[in-house]
Amino acid sequence: MGISALKTKIIGKRILLVEEVGSTNDEAKKLAARGESEGTVVVASSQNRGRGRLDRRWISPPGGLYLSVILKPYISPSMRPLITLFTSVALLRTIKGLTKLPATLKWPNDAVIAGKKVGGILCEGVKNAVIVGIGINLNTNLGLFPKSLKKQVTSLKFECGAEVSRDKLLKILLEEFDKLYKVFLERRFGEIISEWSSSCSTLGSMVRVETAKGEIKGIAESLGNKGELRVRCSDGKIKKVISAEAVKLNEGEE
Ligand code: BTN
Repeated sequence: MGISALKTKIIGKRILLVEEVGSTNDEAKKLAARGESEGTVVVASSQNRGRGRLDRRWISPPGGLYLSVILKPYISPSMRPLITLFTSVALLRTIKGLTKLPATLKWPNDAVIAGKKVGGILCEGVKNAVIVGIGINLNTNLGLFPKSLKKQVTSLKFECGAEVSRDKLLKILLEEFDKLYKVFLERRFGEIISEWSSSCSTLGSMVRVETAKGEIKGIAESLGNKGELRVRCSDGKIKKVISAEAVKLNEGEE
C-alpha cells in the first residue's frame, strides 16, 4: 500500500500496516499505553478477533479495510460521543466522494447503503487516549460473511460492481478525519451535528432503544448538543439516549 502525499496536520503521521491482526483497536491500545503519539494509525487487511459495538464480533475477512486511530483530545469525556459522530461524517464523505453511492448514516455509527451496513465505528476510551476503530466492507466478497448477516451487510465492491482503491479510500478518509478532528478540537460541535443530521436515515423514523433503564420507543427526532439521540415518545415527552447505550432500531435491525 502506498498513500501518497497525505495532506493532514495530525492524523497519519505514522501509519502501521499489518496483514492479519486480532483487532486493530487492541494494537492501537497497546501502542497508546506505550506512549505512542496522537494521530498514529494501525491498518490491517484482515482481523481474526475484530470487535464491534455492544460486544459483538466484527467479521473482518480479507478485502475489507480495518483501521484504528489514536487520539488524545483535551476535552470533557461527556463530549466523546461526538467523536463517533464526526468519524461517521468522515466515513460518509469518503464513501460518497469516492464512489458516488447514496450512502447514509444510521445512529450512532453505521454507514449504510440501501439499508445494508457497509461500515461501522468503535470508539474506546483508554487511560490516556481514545481509540477510534473504523471497519469498512470495501472489496469484500459478500460470500465471506455468515449467512445470518447476508440481508444486513453489503460491500463497496458489490454496490459499485467493481473494486474500489484501498489506497485512495484510506487517503481520503484520513484527510477528512483530520479536518473534522480540527472542527471537534475547536469545539465547533454544531457543524458536526448539523452535517451528521442531514446525512442520517434514522432521524424521523420510529425507533426502539434498549437502555439500562428499560426500553424506549418513539420517533427519533434530533440529536442533542452532545450527540445524544432525542426520541419523542407516545406521551409527547423527549427521552435522550447516548450512543454508549444498547440500541436496536426497528428498521434494518441487526
Ligand atoms: C460496529 O459497527 O459495531 C463497530 C465496528 C467497528 C469495527 C472496527 S474494524 C477496526 C477496529 N478494530 C476492531 O476490532 N473493531 C474496529
